[in-house]
Amino acid sequence: MSEAIDNLIETLSQQEIAEIEAEITHLPDRESAAIDALRVVQEHRGWVSDESLHAIAKLLGMSPDALDSIATFYNLIFRKPVGRHVIMMCDSVSCYVMGCDGLCAALQEKLGVKLGGTTPDDRFTLRPLVCLAACDRAPVMMIDDDLVTHVTPDGLDEILGRYE
Ligand code: FES
Repeated sequence: MSEAIDNLIETLSQQEIAEIEAEITHLPDRESAAIDALRVVQEHRGWVSDESLHAIAKLLGMSPDALDSIATFYNLIFRKPVGRHVIMMCDSVSCYVMGCDGLCAALQEKLGVKLGGTTPDDRFTLRPLVCLAACDRAPVMMIDDDLVTHVTPDGLDEILGRYE
């Protein structure tokens, strides 16, 4: 095994590398796997650290800056540690009209964190997100992979209770 691959394996697990390489086989070139590679590492680690980002960039043969731009643009990739569950509140037009501001204020108060923050027990991270394409069911939020629609401040306790 080459020294370059050895160095990658110090940062990325063999499993992560295998999963990324499997994604690359479906794509025209290695750089096209950028989002998939970031997602693979996030699935294993919960977020993408600078060290992981550099290793992914090396594996894909692209610059860390270019990969970081993609990671930063794609707001489902977390570049800072997050809690066990990530709540993403839609703040786009339909959800705004349907009261997402009040909902977000209620959530921040309930969780004791500002947007972007994580609760001290690491249970929840609260983040804003652009339209989730469920505007007809606004206001909407996503918790982990679950779309939660027609959310009201009164329903928050029951919703949050599903996620320990
Ligand atoms: S505006 Fe919130 S889901 Fe579209």
